[in-house]
Amino acid sequence: MKTKVLVVGGGGREHAIVEALLRDGAAVYSAMKNMNPGIARAALGVKLLNETDVPKVTEFALSNGIELAVIGPEAPLEAGLADELIRKGIGCVGPTQAAARLETSKRFSRRLLKKHGVPGNVEFGTFQDLDSAKVFVDDFPGELVVKPEGLTGGKGVKVEGEHLMGKEEVLRYVKEVLDHKIGGAGVVLEERLVGEEFTLQGFCDGKNVRGMPLVQDHKRAYEGDVGPNTGGMGSYTDADHLLPFVRQHDREAAEDIMQRTIAAMRENGSPYRGVLYGQFMLTKDGPKVIEFNARFGDPEAMNVLSLLPEGLLDVCQGVADGRLSSNVPFLPKATVCKYVVPAGYGTDPKAGRPVVVDENAIAKAGARLYYAAVDEKNGTIYTTSSRSLGVVGVADTIEEAEAVCEAGLTHIQGDVFVRHDIGKRELVRKRVEHMRQVRG
Ligand code: AMP
Ligand code: GLY
Repeated sequence: MKTKVLVVGGGGREHAIVEALLRDGAAVYSAMKNMNPGIARAALGVKLLNETDVPKVTEFALSNGIELAVIGPEAPLEAGLADELIRKGIGCVGPTQAAARLETSKRFSRRLLKKHGVPGNVEFGTFQDLDSAKVFVDDFPGELVVKPEGLTGGKGVKVEGEHLMGKEEVLRYVKEVLDHKIGGAGVVLEERLVGEEFTLQGFCDGKNVRGMPLVQDHKRAYEGDVGPNTGGMGSYTDADHLLPFVRQHDREAAEDIMQRTIAAMRENGSPYRGVLYGQFMLTKDGPKVIEFNARFGDPEAMNVLSLLPEGLLDVCQGVADGRLSSNVPFLPKATVCKYVVPAGYGTDPKAGRPVVVDENAIAKAGARLYYAAVDEKNGTIYTTSSRSLGVVGVADTIEEAEAVCEAGLTHIQGDVFVRHDIGKRELVRKRVEHMRQVRG
């Protein structure tokens, strides 16, 4: 009998999860808010719904005899979907509401690290009112980052020296966050870190963490790292599962931080089962935590899962049952993923525009295609206001993977754009050079 697995979410990340589960022979079901054509085609059953509607998702799972659920986005985690599915006897890759606070509450995660003495934390303060924030800002010796306390879809963070010029602008944004309750109530102010960012994702079974290949995402909308922040325009991994600017001992330090965080969660009474996403800044003093997410990254999932010809189902079962096996067989290859996004994405995305995708030609070019936040109606694919399609190249080197990705991208047409610089030699070199300067 095939294992029945429910995948929640309809983006590129979830399409990659679905494809990996299919390779392991799972019977896949999908609950999503948009008609992702890649997922719809692969799934035995699809339910279009609001992904935070816990009763509806649970009912769909129960009526299909689902044994295991993989929850893609953060919103259903915050809504308590994992708690409810677990109560109904369904195994979950995705933490409970309490454990998901690692992502959903920046105050919780900073305080947890501090309380348990986990390395890699930053100087920070958490505030509910402007007056106490002002005292902190006035006394703080360096540049600050302003973060709304809760979820903002990755768009609420502003950095002094980048988005905010000087303490006055910092305080003005603090006031805006508090007045308009952006991301709930409260604001976190923290030390601005200088370095290069990387992502370490780990499978966690409550006790153990199994790290995946390191990934670097590109948040800025336009080539050359300019423009507004986005959910991520594309990402790459290297064949050694490090990155060209990250050394083995940096990776080990990041793994140690994740391992201690999981131990802290357990001690805290909220064991963490799911994928833990660590966003790190590699500084001159080693990796520091920028934030945690309680799920796979998007696009990062498309990179790492393209390296897993088999084994995701087994790992997911290990996560849900609290017994991860020792290794996850990621291929020693490089990947480059670029997102095709609607014209205007980042400021004023054009939804409802048709996109023409030649799947056969993309496959012939050797690239992988993952559908994201598009809608299929009567055989035509339309953009929504989010990212449309992910294209991934897999090869021995980043440079070759980038070329494969680009060959795939030529077979997609529409009112869309791509950051072509991602994974190109010039940009990767710039990262390496920047890190060399930071290390001094
Ligand atoms: P977050 O939503 O916490 O991932 O923040 C979004 C982006 O803001 C990150 O990807 C970083 O580029 C930047 N950022 C967040 N925290 C810091 C920090 N403490 N120092 C420097 N940059 C930061
Ligand atoms: N790529 C960033 C994220 O998934 O949050």
